[in-house]
This record gives sequence, structure tokens and C-alpha cells, in this order.
Amino acid sequence: MPWRNEISKSHNLRKADKLWRNLHSIESSPGRTIDVDGKSLLNFCSNNYLSLASHRNLTAAAQAATQKYGTSTTASHLIVGHTEIHQRLEEKVALFVGAEKAVLFSTGYMANLAVPTTFLGRHDLLVQDRLNHASIIDAAKMSDAKLRRYHHADAVAASKILADTQFNDAAQRKMLVTDGVFSMDGDVAPLDALHQSCKDHQTVLVVDDAHGFGVVGTSGRGSLSRYDLRPTDNTLMLGTLSKAVGSFGAFVAGDAVYIDALIQHARPFIYTTALPCSAAAASLSAIELFESESWRREKLNDNIQHFRKLADEAGIETTDSTTAIQPILVGDSATALTISQRLKERGIIAIAIRPPTVPVGQARIRVTLMTDHTNADINQLVAAIKAVLPVGKPPTLPEGA
Ligand SMILES: Cc1ncc(COP(=O)(O)O)c(C=O)c1O
Repeated sequence: MPWRNEISKSHNLRKADKLWRNLHSIESSPGRTIDVDGKSLLNFCSNNYLSLASHRNLTAAAQAATQKYGTSTTASHLIVGHTEIHQRLEEKVALFVGAEKAVLFSTGYMANLAVPTTFLGRHDLLVQDRLNHASIIDAAKMSDAKLRRYHHADAVAASKILADTQFNDAAQRKMLVTDGVFSMDGDVAPLDALHQSCKDHQTVLVVDDAHGFGVVGTSGRGSLSRYDLRPTDNTLMLGTLSKAVGSFGAFVAGDAVYIDALIQHARPFIYTTALPCSAAAASLSAIELFESESWRREKLNDNIQHFRKLADEAGIETTDSTTAIQPILVGDSATALTISQRLKERGIIAIAIRPPTVPVGQARIRVTLMTDHTNADINQLVAAIKAVLPVGKPPTLPEGA
């Protein structure tokens, strides 16, 4: 079949361009060390920021929920998949982030698809940061809305797009979606300025806080909270339960009018099975820990500071990120792959992130830190990076990347 041959050719091209991706079979929980191919490696690439994914409260809650409710919900939320654990989790999330209401999704990817596709049609405008997560870009394709993208974190450019788009028909809608913490760069969006622009231009602001929820802002309430904002009025917040929360699933929180619209109309909510009760129960436990313990975030922040200080002393160029995501820019994919392989030989797993996940020429080692890392772990990481990083100036981000 001709197109089967085309696929084979594209595989070969991808391999030649050093863009081929391989699956690793992990043989342990995603802690500070991880077992891969029979070897224990120091893990610097998981999103288990607070080291909660194997915390005894979460595993006990998941086991108890499995005992009571079984391994699957076997139905969508609107049929018989929505249990009282899901209900409690939605209420807990809403209260925690200061929203009127929240709704659960089975993944953050699906939640991101849901929001623009539920609210926008082909006469509407969807404005996005250029470095938004792939799921938000995909949502733009599915929503039919006119897509405008602004230079990364440039609130002035975003505001200009909103101001320049004057609708004659009051029924036409504008929505601006941004990552809260950018997944591959670790910087936090300028939410104060974006929030003000959205307010000035009758635009709904949606913050995808997949990497902020649990770690950024007061008690980990997220990036909006860092700016003293909440998901109220015309602001919606999306969070995933699979990163700092250490579980699985996602939520969107905001005023009831928006959340009810998602429950009524969002296809990625309606036409899929509700997430397992074990995941909902573990998430509830994690949010209780966010409220009762601050030491996990403090320790994570100490680790971030320690890494940045050591990297600086070692002459390793870091970005301005103050979060657990600390990218080391390398440039081309082949070099990034080689560095990742050399780190592995030194007992460290830190994956090379290549296009199309990041722009061409901006391949990187995406270092992520977690609460359970020790100073010795971080010392070992920095020494290893210094040993394997090619000498010479790393690429800097182009203007407005
Ligand atoms: C910014 C961002 N949004 C959304 C998602 C998707 O979340 P999930 O893994 O729950 O589907 C991710 C995860 O990779 C992400 O980095």
C-alpha cells in the first residue's frame, strides 16, 4: 500500500533527524530514584513535584476506594460514573482554589480540549500564548474559532490583539488561554496583566495550571493565587491531578454558569468514562496534605534554589524559571540526545525534549526537581551536567519565542 511506504519513509526521516522517540519501561514508582532497564537512576524528569505519588495517605485512600468501588467506574459522569468521591473531590477543589464550582475531567488534555470547544464557534476569537501546551493548540483546531497567538508571555501583545478585535455582534466571544506555569520553560505567565486586559476587553481568561496547582501560590492554590487572583467572574482555572497532586485526572474551576455549561455540553466530559475512584480518592488526600503541610513546598523551593545556585557556580546557564521546571537549553536534537544518554551513564535520568514539543533549535534537557531530592542528588546532577555539557555558549531563546 503506497501510504504504508510513506509512513515507513517518515519514520526513517525522523530517525535521521534525531527526533525518534522511544518508550522506557519503568519498573518502580516515580520517586527520587526510578528503576529503568534493571538500573536504578536518579530521577530528574518526573512531574511528581511534591513526591506524593507514593505517599502512604494517597496509596491507602486509593486502595480503600478500589475495595469499595472497584477498579473502574464503567460509565460516564452523567450515566452512573459520578460517585460521591468524585462529588467530594469537586467540592474540595472548588473550595481550595476559591471558585464557585469545579468539574472533573479524565485528563488535563481532555479538559483543555473541552473549554474552547464548548464556548467558542467559528465567529469567535481564541487568543493564546505561543508556548501553550499542545492540548490547547489542539483545542483551537477543534473549536473552529479564529486563532491568534501572541509572543510568549507578552501581555502587551495579547492586549493589543484583544483591543484590535472589535465585534459588532454582542454574541461574539473572546477567550484567552495561557499556561499558568509553562510546561517546558517553567516560567509563570503574567496573569495580573492578562487578567486586566481580559477584563477591559470582555474576554474570558482560562489558566491551564497543570504545573502550578499544588506548588505555586498560597498553599499551592496555583498561579492565579500567586497574583492574588481566583477563578471567579470571567476567569477559569484548569488543573491536572497527575503532577504535583500525584494522582490522575483533571478539573476546571470557575463560576457555576461556566462549569454548568461544561457539564451540559463539553464532549470530552460527556462522552468518556469517569476517572477511577482510586484516582479521585488519592487526589482528595493530596489536597488535604496541601492544606495541612507546607514543608513539602518549602523543601521543593530549597531544592530549586540549591540547583540554581550550584548550576550558576558551575557555569551552567539556566533560564529565569523559579519553579521546579529548570530547562537546560542545548539547541539541536542530536546534542540533547547525547547529553541525556551521557547523564544516564552517570546514573541520572533527564530526558531530552525535542521538536515539535519545543521550537526547532531549542532542544533541551528538562530538569524537574521534587521534594524528595536530597542536596547530594542535586550535587550529583550538576556535576554530571557540567561533565557532559559541550563547552560553548548554549542557545538563547529568540525574541518572543
Ligand atoms: C500545561 C499542560 N497542560 C495540560 C497537560 C495535560 O494534562 P494531563 O497529563 O492530565 O492530560 C499537561 C501535561 O502534560 C501540561 O503540561
